[in-house]
Amino acid sequence: MQRTLILLKPDAVQRRMMGRLVTRFEDKGLNFVAMKLMRVTPELAKQHYAEHIEKGWYPTLEAFITGGPVLAAVLEGLEAITVVRDMLGATSGLAAAPGTIRGDYSSSRQMNLVHGSDGPEAAEREIALYFQASELCDHTPTIVPWLRAADE
Ligand code: TYD
Ligand code: MG
Repeated sequence: MQRTLILLKPDAVQRRMMGRLVTRFEDKGLNFVAMKLMRVTPELAKQHYAEHIEKGWYPTLEAFITGGPVLAAVLEGLEAITVVRDMLGATSGLAAAPGTIRGDYSSSRQMNLVHGSDGPEAAEREIALYFQASELCDHTPTIVPWLRAADE
């Protein structure tokens, strides 16, 4: 079982897409274990996107991600990190395959709607950046036996 951080970015919130996107992750069988609407500060943006701070496009990325509320959430599921990244599609909405979130709803490299951690180390680091341990709500939904076999 894996956990991963997602952010419904300011474009998703402003475009009134939170409900549709949450439904999409729930429909897939992923389990929400934490969720909050919040504002990303410039300081948090620099920590989150530390690997990109030197890029020429970082200032516009920071302006975008701090420009409105985000919905931050932790998702749990088998291979959740890869499953979520595959649901998002390629970074640019112009390159992302139809059927993916970015492929279906984004025409931008920057305004690509949803962030997902890209590996186990990133997931652990990013979950800790956005959530206190006490905010993670451990639970096993009663529907789990109808989502996958017991030995999966
Ligand atoms: P990156 O880690 O490459 O993409 P991903 O979100 O798919 O892991 O980049 C982080 C975010 O930075 C990306 O979601 C959108 C933004 N970005 C730009 O604004 N301009 C760019 O040229 C790139 C590559 C990314
Ligand atoms: Mg990335």
